[in-house]
Amino acid sequence: TELDFDLEEIEKGGFEHFMLKEIFEQPVTMQEVMRGRVRHEDGFVRLGGIEDYLDRIRDARRIVICACGTSWHAGLIGEYLLEEFARIPVEVDYASEFRYRNPILDEHDVVIVISQSGETADTLAALRLAKEKGALVVGICNVVGSTIARETHCGMYTHAGPEIGVASTKAFTAQVIVLYLLSLVLSKDRSLSRHDISLYLRELGEVPEKVSRILELNDQILEIAREYVDSRNCLYLGRGYNFPVALEGALKLKEISYIHAEGYPAAEMKHGPIALIDKDMPVVFIAPQDATHGKILSNVEEVRSRKGRVIAVANEGDEEIARLADHVIYIPSAAAPVTPLLNVIPLQMLSYHIATLRGCNVDRPRNLAKSVTVE
Ligand code: G6P
Repeated sequence: TELDFDLEEIEKGGFEHFMLKEIFEQPVTMQEVMRGRVRHEDGFVRLGGIEDYLDRIRDARRIVICACGTSWHAGLIGEYLLEEFARIPVEVDYASEFRYRNPILDEHDVVIVISQSGETADTLAALRLAKEKGALVVGICNVVGSTIARETHCGMYTHAGPEIGVASTKAFTAQVIVLYLLSLVLSKDRSLSRHDISLYLRELGEVPEKVSRILELNDQILEIAREYVDSRNCLYLGRGYNFPVALEGALKLKEISYIHAEGYPAAEMKHGPIALIDKDMPVVFIAPQDATHGKILSNVEEVRSRKGRVIAVANEGDEEIARLADHVIYIPSAAAPVTPLLNVIPLQMLSYHIATLRGCNVDRPRNLAKSVTVE
């Protein structure tokens, strides 16, 4: 009805689509996740929702993360963070696989389920199975009071606010921040000093402002998008913390623009995807200036020499990459563990613009549902 239409326009707050609004909300939603949980000055983190279970989580023999879709990608970043900071072995599983493979699990394990909606059928089934086997189950959900939030032993909300666009954006970055905070909490008396923790918190504290600066690149990203509107395939490559970001960038593009896209760890390119590279295969490189930067540059050269077109997300001041790539999206640099929160933003914007230029309904892409409550 006309009234519903007007309400929707108001809810979009002047943005053309919910997805774009949600992308642009991220500097604020990121603050919301940290609110009341972090004191940046002295390295203090408190996660009230899991406080009573903290010892048991710290003593976990293993952490298993279960999720679907974009939440699974957040889980993969969580694996890197938890292993680096908390030094606890982590496994990440698709909830749908976990629930059907008779997983080895007992009371020494902690299972983290991640779900924006808190209603995804496979994730809920994984949660119930993990409980049955005696594991402690910790939830990371966005929707307050959702089934998954209610059934877990304890958990943390992402406080990103309602997410309407089917393609997850602000909920994803909020999930990554919760996992980052959890990893820091668990690292105490383990691998990081109080000083290290406050450094990493300071890095996190700078993220929302850096995201605001990345959002200012919207027009540049729109111009890049124009050149790739008719692409049929696209490859996304990244390493380390940004390998899952490559997967997420590819998922965003395929979900809303219907262009076939794949994400790969950059070093795996030579084991398959390199065979596909020609002038019609754009490659998006996530290339922050970290320990693997030189290796990424040689991957860029390999793509160039096969006439592949290169879009690079790189750090301000990286002039070397500008000589090799067709387009460079320059973003502020940061400590490696926070880079996924920055690198994913231009990829969200790129897929948004490519999809809208193709005339796709980005908020309600065909065949997809916001929350998949059936198998
Ligand atoms: C659907 C949505 C995705 C989401 C996934 C998991 O596929 O379209 O955006 O990542 O479900 O949903 P959840 O609510 O469990 O995070």
